[in-house]
Amino acid sequence: MARMETSSNLEAELDRLLEIERFDPPEEFREHALLADRSVYEEAERDWQGWWLSQAKELSWFKEPTETLDDSDPPFYKWFADGKLNASHICLDQHVEAGNGERVAFHWRGEEGEERDLTYADLHRDVQRFANALKELGIGKGDIVGIYLPMIPEVVVAMLACARIGAPHNVVFGGFSADSVRERMEFSEAKALITVDGARRKGKTAPIKQQVDSVMADLDTIEHIIVVKHTDAECEMKDGRDVWYHEVMEKADTECPAEELDAEHPLYVLYTSGSTGKPKGVLHTTGGYLTGVASTHRYVFDLHPDEDVYWCSADVGWVTGHSYIVYGPMANGATSVMFEGAPDYPHKGIWWELCERYGVTIFYTAPTAIRACIKWGTEHVEKFNLDKLRLLGTVGEPINPKAWLWYHKVVGGERCPIVDTWWQTETGQIMITPLPGIVSTKPGSATFPYPGIAATVVDEREGKELEPGEPGLLVLTRPWPAMLRTLYREDERFIEQYFSKFGKETYLVGDGARKDEDGYFWIIGRIDDVVNVSGHRLSTAEVESAIVSHQKVAEAAVIGQSDEDTGQAICAFVTLEGDLEGTSELEQEIRDHVGSRIGKFTRPKRIIWADDLPKTRSGKIMRRLLRDIAEGRALGDVTTLRDPDVMSQLEDKIKAEQAEDD
Ligand code: WT7
Repeated sequence: MARMETSSNLEAELDRLLEIERFDPPEEFREHALLADRSVYEEAERDWQGWWLSQAKELSWFKEPTETLDDSDPPFYKWFADGKLNASHICLDQHVEAGNGERVAFHWRGEEGEERDLTYADLHRDVQRFANALKELGIGKGDIVGIYLPMIPEVVVAMLACARIGAPHNVVFGGFSADSVRERMEFSEAKALITVDGARRKGKTAPIKQQVDSVMADLDTIEHIIVVKHTDAECEMKDGRDVWYHEVMEKADTECPAEELDAEHPLYVLYTSGSTGKPKGVLHTTGGYLTGVASTHRYVFDLHPDEDVYWCSADVGWVTGHSYIVYGPMANGATSVMFEGAPDYPHKGIWWELCERYGVTIFYTAPTAIRACIKWGTEHVEKFNLDKLRLLGTVGEPINPKAWLWYHKVVGGERCPIVDTWWQTETGQIMITPLPGIVSTKPGSATFPYPGIAATVVDEREGKELEPGEPGLLVLTRPWPAMLRTLYREDERFIEQYFSKFGKETYLVGDGARKDEDGYFWIIGRIDDVVNVSGHRLSTAEVESAIVSHQKVAEAAVIGQSDEDTGQAICAFVTLEGDLEGTSELEQEIRDHVGSRIGKFTRPKRIIWADDLPKTRSGKIMRRLLRDIAEGRALGDVTTLRDPDVMSQLEDKIKAEQAEDD
């Protein structure tokens, strides 16, 4: 009974907040904010390249750049090209040299409650050793190194050791399947892979090395697999190819000076989903990328490195982890929390328990996680003391105002500004976001472009800027330092994808958006065949080809459907071979098949058996109609269909399905 009362009070409170249009930065926050004066926007606008150069100069370079932007060959831009630096030196050595070696870089927490504090000096030591170990194995400047690791400190060591010797890393998110790892290693011709014996999954162990072995045998480019021992999972070590991380570490020399690299030296490749079935290898380089992530991490999160405890709950396997767990925070000498596990293991309040335990002051997460917490109930949050929190952030998908307000009230105690940060794997850095000491926020809007960034909304046909309120395509009209430099080994695809629709100087984002009367940006969502499930980016074409590779499937079409928990969910229309019948067993089989092909998180939530799919006369599947039908909308124009009857058959199916659910 008591609980009922609390929740209806909360409802009433949230309804009250729903009436508020704008949330001003709280006075106590402004007083201590690094930026509290609007003039930073004007200053950056007056000379945007000069502003970025000033941001670059905050980094510790071996040789400071004198050049800013080289735009002589768009869209192949270069930033700070005559500067020399090393990402690992910036993330480690500079802090140790400044006497901050004893500062904790990560409070690491394992799934079963283990704790390890890693200082900047600890990581400096381990990274040097591991960099030497990589060199011993014959890996050097320019070689691609795959990393497939869970959220353990070794993943940071591995990334920075690669950076130290100038070997670009290619991290694959631990939730992807071994097949996906193989594909990404093959595309990038990786020379080595760093992985783990087993990964912990809510009290169970997944045999990662075994899975990797099952697909990697014939991939000749991989000369070595380095295995971190983390669990008791059994794994075979192949002679001559496989080595244990702890053994090579033990043997390695302790000193390894960081290579002095050109600003445009590749730092990493990160594969992301595009609108075709083939993932895109987004390439980021060093000087501009670090400038972009360090500047945004400092000012968007108002980081006071000697006071704050920062926690970004993402996985390092996504760009959020690269930019805002590793490179941004470490360049700024931040103290962070790193958590191995899931938000509901060992209990649904674990995040808030850890916030209390480590005194987290800045917390950055995804809207889908916030919605899960709302569902689990406020009591899991309220058990813990979150008074130290002073700033909250979100990323990955549009946040619905209700979730925003709940986050503001229940987690932030109505005193923490929320920064809704819009960006992408390709942009490398946060692009549209409030500055928390300056900008009044509106729930659901990412507000304004970061200083130095230029964005606008244009019409689809001519690329003309739209009036306030009109929805259109989001574009970026200037280069920015952390932008992708190309798609790895696919320059043509890079141009075609991002710089062909409106010319070589306008970056096509792939999101729909609108600006309101006050100039606030509202991101609507993807306009291509990319789906966003729980903030994870997926290509419908990739899921389709996984489904079609099942032997009982003749044809499939995949769409994203709105979902109140995960933002979007995968819905698949499947036509079976011959006269096979769609059963619930087969449905499960197909879901598992997709899981093992791409990764569990990509399994379709809903499968609809279809006798046929709606196609144009030229044989193209009309996904628009499938989206309408799945969302229960009135069907648009069906006259261009080869066989209009297909749609009425499908409609009947959906109606029958709904009747069953009711
Ligand atoms: C796509 C990029 C950026 C790191 C995580 C995702 C969507 C991202 C927001 C936001 C509305 C957002 C966009 C974008 N997105 N942040 N704050 N509001 N939408 O990176 O996997 O490259 O996906 O995520 O659709 O294009 P990603």
